[in-house]
Amino acid sequence: MERRIHSSLVKLICFVLFTSWLIVINVAASSRTNNKFNYYSELLRRNLLANGLGMTPPMGWNSWNHFNCKIDEKTIRETADALVSTGLSKLGYIYVNIDDCWAEIARNEKGELAPKNSTFPSGIKALADYVHSKGLKLGIYSDAGYYTCSQKMPGSLGNEERDANTFASWGVDYLKYDNCFSDDSRPMERYPVMTRALMNARRPIYYSICEWGDLHPALWGGNVGNSWRTTFDIQDNWESMLSRADQNEVYAEYARPGGWNDPDMLEVGNGGMTKDEYIVHFSIWAISKAPLILGCDVRNMSDDTLEIIRNKEVIAVNQDPLGIQAKKVRLFGDQEIWAAPLSGYRVAILLVNRGPVRYAVTAQWDDIGIPQNSTVVARDLWAHKTLPPLVGNLTSIVGSHSCKMYVLKPIS
Ligand SMILES: *[C@@H]1O[C@H](CO)[C@@H](O)[C@H](O)[C@H]1NC(C)=O
Ligand SMILES: *[C@@H]1O[C@H](CO)[C@@H](O)[C@H](O)[C@H]1NC(C)=O
Ligand SMILES: *[C@@H]1O[C@H](CO)[C@@H](O)[C@H](O)[C@H]1NC(C)=O
Ligand SMILES: *[C@@H]1O[C@H](CO)[C@@H](O)[C@H](O)[C@H]1NC(C)=O
Repeated sequence: MERRIHSSLVKLICFVLFTSWLIVINVAASSRTNNKFNYYSELLRRNLLANGLGMTPPMGWNSWNHFNCKIDEKTIRETADALVSTGLSKLGYIYVNIDDCWAEIARNEKGELAPKNSTFPSGIKALADYVHSKGLKLGIYSDAGYYTCSQKMPGSLGNEERDANTFASWGVDYLKYDNCFSDDSRPMERYPVMTRALMNARRPIYYSICEWGDLHPALWGGNVGNSWRTTFDIQDNWESMLSRADQNEVYAEYARPGGWNDPDMLEVGNGGMTKDEYIVHFSIWAISKAPLILGCDVRNMSDDTLEIIRNKEVIAVNQDPLGIQAKKVRLFGDQEIWAAPLSGYRVAILLVNRGPVRYAVTAQWDDIGIPQNSTVVARDLWAHKTLPPLVGNLTSIVGSHSCKMYVLKPIS
């Protein structure tokens, strides 16, 4: 009896969540067709960022999460070396992205951004050449304001054309574009200016909008950039990581090849979470089709870190050509089931246990888009094992602050 009440309560909660989701989507859609969005979407369609990049979520590394402002060209070169020597580049981690603090506080006499002499004496072009010689790509950072967030270098507001041309002349392949110290105009006005500048610079440069989710960039980012941050900065702890995951999930409908929701860069390997928590972090990012941008010191990684970020089966879910972002399909207490269709009529599922005790979690085929009477072969992506064929559901014991991830393939 108690169980029945419990299950009707769960159904009621699911129904309420689903209905409110529909309302959110509809409100979003109607606000787009009503107010100023008409004007913007027309404007943006004409300035479509047709650079052909990001057909799968980008993979690589960025300096911020581990090094903050303490970067120099030696660290960047050694990171490029390490991405190759650890085999990570072969798995797809090809972007080597310099974050804030790489430039002098003053522009040079031509008004161009100047690499910081004390830390990048050889300049960015030399670094790009080095990174390219290893088969990798170089990313750089600027800001849609007058200063970057560190206030240690200028932003690109008002200098978009000049800076885009500078980046292109250096051979830059990726731009992360932050949102500090602006003129208070709205992001959907400032970010497309850089879109146009990048297009005019005639070099395909992946454009990573870092607007922190302020004005729902998922609603307009698709015509402006290759990905858009949906959240404020991540921190290296369980609560911060999960809250980025939750905020990002709301916009799942808007992700597609060439335009991704970005819940911020990875913290795996930085020491603030347990191994199981980092596995949850990496799994959610992978199934959410988030950019997989490493944020640890890849010159000095533990075996556990390597085991997580080199999991080819999990990476394959992230890089699946369909590019459909996972949604939470069931929520009961601390247990969640995330699911996303994959190519080849397969489905990726992730069972997450956010609570303090282990639990048996059951994923019903009905809830994950597979006919209930189908026979399914399930592949466990962390145990690297294929389960005997299943009908109707998959039940798995999931430890505290842990997850299980599977690819399901119906065979009849
Ligand atoms: C860069 O620094 C070196 C010494 O560290 C100095 O000799 C050189 O003049 C500086 N160049 C510029 C452009 O400031
Ligand atoms: C390498 O990582 C270990 C463990 O995370 C740390 O104790 C050590 O200081 C690191 N070494 C360097 C050179 O950063
Ligand atoms: C599953 O059920 C549907 C109707 O409910 C039926 O048409 C189909 O043949 C069944 N498939 C299997 C594999 O039993
Ligand atoms: C899962 O499926 C098995 C086999 O079809 C069935 O015996 C079991 O009752 C199902 N469990 C749940 C929780 O639905």
